[in-house]
Amino acid sequence: MKVTYLGHSCILVDTGKHQLIIDPFLTGNPSAAVAADDIQVDYVLLTHGHSDHIADAESIARRNNAPILAIVELADYFAGTGLQTVGMNLGGSRTFPFGKLKWVPALHSSSVNHNGVNVYLGVAAGILLDIDGTAIYHAGDTALFSDMKLVSSRGPVDLAFLPIGDHFTMGPEDALTAAEWIGAKHVVPVHYNTFDAIAQDGEQFVADLARIGITGHALKPGDSLDNF
Ligand code: NI
Ligand code: MN
Repeated sequence: MKVTYLGHSCILVDTGKHQLIIDPFLTGNPSAAVAADDIQVDYVLLTHGHSDHIADAESIARRNNAPILAIVELADYFAGTGLQTVGMNLGGSRTFPFGKLKWVPALHSSSVNHNGVNVYLGVAAGILLDIDGTAIYHAGDTALFSDMKLVSSRGPVDLAFLPIGDHFTMGPEDALTAAEWIGAKHVVPVHYNTFDAIAQDGEQFVADLARIGITGHALKPGDSLDNF
């Protein structure tokens, strides 16, 4: 299995058999590693409706004939545009051809801006994947909350993507606590340095993780990890 950081919160997961993209925000993202038109995937997973997570969801899903997997209200929004979707909700899991997907809580909001008006579309979520026994957690956008201790109560998380940008999500200090509570073996910081408001030092965060015994990877957009 290989995961590739495409910038901001966007992750490409290559299971060897299937390709998944999480939170595609490439068009309009100054740090994007690739163009949305070059993405080839089987599934599009969305943590919540904010534009920096769904900007390219519709075009990628349509061109690839790939279903959108999301919390039910956000899924229904895309179903309304004629796309295939699987709407689920918090605590719910389902086994797909690529592995098991579970929607877990995130402390954030979820809306789509429609003609200048914010339309709220259910809750924000995190994603827990179990692919061939490897647990991957994408926290989405979130504040620190103590129920993160329960995200993977049945076993350790092999790889966690945690926002560190502050301002809209938790910052590096809270993300360190989150990494500890989750019991993550490997952590990749995301949702930082895309814009001035979320400027952070990824290498410093990784050094701080090392001090509490967790392996961090400050991936640059386009970098991959295949050993975790
Ligand atoms: Ni957001
Ligand atoms: Mn965001």
